[in-house]
Amino acid sequence: MKQLVLIIFGIVLIMACQPSEEPSVTEVEALVLDVYDYFEEEIPYSITRYQIENNHDKIAALGRILFYDNRLSQNNSISCANCHKQQNAFSDEKQFSIGLKNYETTRNTLSLTNNAYHVSHFWEGHSGRIEDHVLNPISNHIEMGMTNVNDLVVKLSEIDDYNSLFNEVFDEDISEDLLNQSLTTFIASLISYNSKFDKGKITGFTNFTANELAGKDLFFGKAKCSHCHNGDHFNARWRKTANIGLDHNYVDQGAGDGHFKVPSLRNIAITSPYMHDGRFAGLDEVVEHYVSGIKDHPELDWTLSNKIELSGSEKELLIDFLHTLTDYEMLSDPKFSNPFN
Ligand code: HEC
Ligand code: HEC
Repeated sequence: MKQLVLIIFGIVLIMACQPSEEPSVTEVEALVLDVYDYFEEEIPYSITRYQIENNHDKIAALGRILFYDNRLSQNNSISCANCHKQQNAFSDEKQFSIGLKNYETTRNTLSLTNNAYHVSHFWEGHSGRIEDHVLNPISNHIEMGMTNVNDLVVKLSEIDDYNSLFNEVFDEDISEDLLNQSLTTFIASLISYNSKFDKGKITGFTNFTANELAGKDLFFGKAKCSHCHNGDHFNARWRKTANIGLDHNYVDQGAGDGHFKVPSLRNIAITSPYMHDGRFAGLDEVVEHYVSGIKDHPELDWTLSNKIELSGSEKELLIDFLHTLTDYEMLSDPKFSNPFN
């Protein structure tokens, strides 16, 4: 096992050292706005603020270009999509992601699925709306390194294409505010509502196998998962963070005392590795943690202080259920894909 881990680690290291596969955006001749229906009427969740903006589809389309443009980083090497990849539900497959100049992030990349509906943001569970935080990665020295976002505004305003795009969409020149609004609107549009679970909700779960149904009962019943991962988005609807007893002594204290954001479980089967430090490679390890790995930390959430009893086959049923939260339509939807390809 140790050897396997070492080999995998080796491969990750080798991959990390390869030059980025993203095409250099300077090769792109002109930036064109591809306008799709980003906030479709059939989305069953209550309206977000971004849906009511006039013009929201054009704003999201501009946000999509920015999201995939390497020029948003200090040395033109990294875009948001380097770490938030569509095929991984806008997270990536690494324990820690590679940022500017091959620096590693100190935490595992969060998926951007249904972010506009979350009550807390980033692993520390910051409060507020996503637009209060969306520009942080740009100035983060590990991620994109534009220490002063205003320098980025100046940099982009020297690119003719962006000047005309911002004017086309907003009738105004580029500014920090409009940059924020565009990126936020695109991220807010990353809404998953077509998973097997969503379809089941409409049909009374007649589309579920017997195993998936049994797993669903465990999730909402004796496995107690829904005490924290609840509501339409399987995150926490009210509480911002929790301590789930990963360690006796946390190296990373998160929001303090080992509290971390209760992440959404939408698309969870394809966002491994798991937890703020990506310590678990698979869902089997995650479930095993809840069954037999919980440490008696003084801040451990009360829900988890009584042991969760699950047999070997029940653990598998729970995982079968978690797989029904994958939204394959979102993962291949062209409106979220790289516009530079
Ligand atoms: C080098 C990798 C990397 C890049 C580049 C990157 N991110 Fe992230 N992103 C992360 C990591 C790691 C986290 C979790 C960090 C934490 O919470 O401490 C994260 C978290 C987030 C979150 C919070 C999600 C949640 O569920 O709370 C948002 C929003 C986000 N990033 C947006 C962006 C945007 C927009 C860009 C581009 C401007 C971007 N990121 C670029 C790695 C990256
Ligand atoms: C007390 C609240 C709570 C309960 C109960 C709970 N979780 Fe969690 N869950 C969390 C928190 C908080 C995290 C993030 C912890 C961290 O990274 O330090 C998390 C993380 C996860 C992750 C990893 C998410 C990611 O993006 O890396 C999975 C998968 C998960 N939980 C599944 C479950 C399952 C399955 C159950 C039921 C057996 C469950 N959780 C019960 C609060 C809870």
